[in-house]
Formats: sequence, C-alpha cells, structure tokens
Amino acid sequence: MFHDPATFADGFPHETFRALRADDPVSHHEHPTWKRGYWVVARHADVQRVSRDAATFSNAPNPFLDAEMAEDDATMAELLISQDPPIHTKLRKLINKGFTPRRVAQLEDRVRGRVDRIVGALADRNECDLVTDIALWLPLHVIADLVGVPEDDRAQVFRWTELTFGFDENVTADERADAATAMFMYADSLCEQRRAEPRDDLLSVLITAEVEGESLTQLQIDLFFMLLQNAGSETTRNLITTGMLVLLQQPDALERLRADLSIMPTAIEELLRWVSPVMQFTRRALHDTEIGGRTIAAGDRVALVYPSANRDERAFDEPDRLDLSRQPNDHVAFGAGGPHFCLGANLARFEARIMFEALVTRFEGLATAAPAETLPRVHSNLIDGYAHLPIRWDSLQPAGTP
Ligand code: HEM
Repeated sequence: MFHDPATFADGFPHETFRALRADDPVSHHEHPTWKRGYWVVARHADVQRVSRDAATFSNAPNPFLDAEMAEDDATMAELLISQDPPIHTKLRKLINKGFTPRRVAQLEDRVRGRVDRIVGALADRNECDLVTDIALWLPLHVIADLVGVPEDDRAQVFRWTELTFGFDENVTADERADAATAMFMYADSLCEQRRAEPRDDLLSVLITAEVEGESLTQLQIDLFFMLLQNAGSETTRNLITTGMLVLLQQPDALERLRADLSIMPTAIEELLRWVSPVMQFTRRALHDTEIGGRTIAAGDRVALVYPSANRDERAFDEPDRLDLSRQPNDHVAFGAGGPHFCLGANLARFEARIMFEALVTRFEGLATAAPAETLPRVHSNLIDGYAHLPIRWDSLQPAGTP
C-alpha cells in the first residue's frame, strides 16, 4: 500500500504508522510488479540503522518506491542517489567542491533579497496562493542561482522540473520523458558556455572538478542538474507551505514564534519533523540480514518511512505535540545519517528560516482562505504537500519589520 499515492491522498496515515510501529515494525507488503514485494520499516531506530549501513543496504538500481517501474529498472541508476560507495563517495566529493561554505554563504545573501522580492510583489493584494505565489519561487531561484541558470531561462527550466516530477496525474509518461530530454540538452548547452567562459557558479566548478584524477562525465552533470532541481524545490516548498498551515492551525505556536524569533532554529527543526516533506526511500539488502528481528533476504527491498520514524514514541517525548523549542530533536526529515544524507539540508534550513521570518512578521491577520480538508495535495508516494493553499491577510508590513 505504501507504493500507492492514494494511501497518502488525505495526508499521512498516522494511525496506520502508529499501529505498525507498535505491532509490526518491519512489515511485508505486496507490490504490483515487484515479485518479492517490499518491507516497510516504521521505527526511528530501524530507519537509522538501515540508512547508516551502506555495506548491507544498497541504493542501486534506484531508491524509489515506484508503483510502475520494474524492480530492476535501470533508468535512474546513474543518479547520485542511486549510487553506492565507493563510487558514491567519489561523486559526492566532486559535488562537494561546488557546495563549499563560501558558496552557500553567497547564496544566503541572495535568499533575503529573493524573499523580499517575492513578498514585495504582493504589496497590492490581500490574498494569494501560498504555494504558487510564494513558496515555490524561493527554492527554484535559489537552485538556479547556485547552478548558474540565467534569469531569462528560469521559467522554462521550472516548467521542465514540474513536468519531470510527474506529480500532476494529467502529465503522460511521454511528456515526462520529453521534459527530461529537453532539460539534459539545456544542461549540455549551458556546460558548453561555461567551458568557453567559466563563471563563479556550480556548473563551472563541476565541469573542471577532479577527484583522484577523475572528473564527472557530461551525463553525470546532466543528471545532477536534474536531481538538484527536483530534490531542492518540491521538498523546501512543502516545508514552507505545510509548515505554515500547521502554524495557522495552532495559533498558540504561531504567536509564540512571532513573539520570540530567537526560537526559529528549533522551530524549523520541529516543522521538519512534523511536515516530513519526503515520505520514503528504499534500500536493497545486499546479503541476508535482519531488521527488528525480521529476516530480510539478499535482494529484498526495504522502504524507510520518514514521517513514521518522526512520530516514533520511542525516539520523541509526546511525538504528536508540536513543540517549537523541542531539544534534542533527532528527526529524520533529511534522512537518518549515512552516505546519502541530504546534500542541501543547510541550504533548505536557511531558506525556510528567512521565509518563515517574513511570513510571521510581515503578514498581519494571516489566515487560510479555504478549509484544510478541501486543499488539493500533490499526487505522490515520495513527496507530501499541497498543490494549492489559498491564504488572505489584512495588511502587509514593509521588509525589515521586526
Ligand atoms: C526541506 C527540504 C529538503 C528535504 C526534506 C530533503 C530530504 C532529503 C532526503 C530524505 C534525502 C535522502 C536521504 C537518504 O537517503 O539518506 C535527500 C537527499 C538529497 N537531497 Fe535533499 N531535502 C531537502 C532539500 C534539498 C535541497 C535544497 C537540495 C539541493 C540544494 C537537496 C539535494 C539533495 C540531494 C542531491 C540528495 C542526494 C544525496 C545523495 O544521494 O548523496 N535537498 N534529501
């Protein structure tokens, strides 16, 4: 059932998660095309153990719990997230050359300006769609800034990103594939330009980066280009939208944050735990093993269910209470440690911080403009979030409002 987006059509099935954690923490499920089915790992400690043990649990040929793809489908096999050590280790080293603290700091300067522009564009309005007018633009532009996509090309790259994701049920498989091809060709041509004229951006670093005498192939760069657009945009967008909805539904928490912005760092971690924008990734056992007392055979797939681990009563006190100053908070929204831990975690945290500061301080009388149960969700078993979230407000304060 966890492979089926319908399972998550009304949000996370927390009652099911709770029952699994209590009675069947490593449960077996049928899959429409995978003969062996798959295991669901529901507890925090088990999700952590599997994530950190790359010698036993592999990401190849890809870690997606796809309802349609064959079990050994290799189309995603070249993605960074589908690689195992030692190749993964080398690739990540190469990519880290473009993710230096200096580069992330430069981006951070731009994040504030971008948030001001996004919010400033709403100056004459009293309502908007939090998803399409606010939240989606920040991560898209931040990644485009990081990679070096010129402003004029961004609208097109954003459209391809939306299409390749396939969260809109009306987009056909052919349209998804065409968008991916177009994105690759675009990345190729941008690389050509950077080879001729390098700039201070991630692409220029990636085309020249070397580790142990090896550099990235053009295909690896193209794939990374696509992975960054996808991994960095939907996830951060949903942290902002669902996180803000949660705060609007829990006015005491919102007031507390507004009254004391210094709790923002722990508040972001708690919203990450609560929202869990990424639902699950899988691993494949390389040899016979066991998880939580269940025998897992070599070749079996296991799904790590992050939103369940994030409400595990064994790992968190009162896990169903939103506590914006929760500490410690060992949530697994970015993964549970191990070699694939989210590459963009700090960037996402920073984007969320600046955006929540603006939402909390600049919008007076902010409220949702539609009942929560009527809001359309994205169609996915990977990413949870809303496709639209209408909001309204009484007045908008200028940037820099304390
Ligand atoms: C709230 C926002 C985000 C969430 C919740 C999130 C979550 C995750 C998760 C769960 C994983 C897999 C971890 C694992 O398998 O152990 C991951 C991997 C990854 N994320 Fe994020 N992510 C977010 C934002 C970003 C951003 C902003 C970027 C890029 C700038 C990014 C780039 C990546 C990449 C490249 C990987 C693959 C890393 C690898 O395989 O080595 N993510 N992310």
